Amino acid sequence: MASNEKGIKVAVSGKGGVGKTTLSALLCWLYARERKKVLAVDADPDANLGSALGFSPEELKSLVPIAQHRQLIKERTGAEPGISGQMFSLNPRVDDIPDRYVLEKEGIKLLQMGTVTRGGGGCACPEGTLLKHLLRHLVVKREEAVVVDMEAGLEHLGRGTAESVDAFIVVVEPGQRSIQTARDVVRLARDLGVERVYAVVNKVREGQEEVLREQLDFLPLLGVLPFDLEAVSADLEGRAVFEASPRLVAAAEGIKEELERLLAR
Ligand SMILES: Nc1ncnc2c1ncn2[C@@H]1O[C@H](COP(=O)(O)OP(=O)(O)O)[C@@H](O)[C@H]1O
Ligand SMILES: [Mg+2]
Repeated sequence: MASNEKGIKVAVSGKGGVGKTTLSALLCWLYARERKKVLAVDADPDANLGSALGFSPEELKSLVPIAQHRQLIKERTGAEPGISGQMFSLNPRVDDIPDRYVLEKEGIKLLQMGTVTRGGGGCACPEGTLLKHLLRHLVVKREEAVVVDMEAGLEHLGRGTAESVDAFIVVVEPGQRSIQTARDVVRLARDLGVERVYAVVNKVREGQEEVLREQLDFLPLLGVLPFDLEAVSADLEGRAVFEASPRLVAAAEGIKEELERLLAR
């Protein structure tokens, strides 16, 4: 079964700048409009989901990203972040984090994961362990619609987490480089045991769709988002993308419907 009663879990990935955050914000808003509870998870080190959702710079400043929350990390793992060679809990408590360490507006909760600076291989550090547990908890246990805006690397996803994600959406923009990144993401996702990987093409201009469909023959396409200047000015002005661009909202509705159709099969 794909989409479970617990609420849909979607991860959005792709090369930097392609529109992961834009699509994530649009999906969050569409789920919230259906009166679903929504958890918007910003797991990209280049964090900007909050601003695309329309949270103000002041609100965002008040939210300490989890990986930067020294006191929380210490309290939950028993170790100081950034210091190597300490003992720490491998099973930190995370269940209260999505309710306590978030910003909330109109049915959407924003959780900022923050960045883990990796010293060498893997992330056997307290903050990395906390993030991994938290992400797993979010997709396995939470009952909201969870949308994770993440980098192309998928580093935070262990197998158990990836398997509970209902759909992986790879955002692509017209151009070979982002299509190559999409191929890499698909390979990483499949290595993690995820089969439901889909593409969305963003910033599409007239006449490009046909070629793109051909180039993306390795992934089912959920739909395309047109290039829209309203999205650009929304970003410049720090306004929510769904308030600024009715065209993108309409296109995202089609994408969401197609996703639901494919998951129900
Ligand atoms: N459909 C679109 N049309 C025009 N500009 C867009 C579109 N989607 C995103 N953008 C702009 O492109 C930039 C990168 O988008 P963003 O969603 O932040 O990408 P990512 O999260 O993948 O780095 C932002 O300035 C955003 O406003
Ligand atoms: Mg982004």
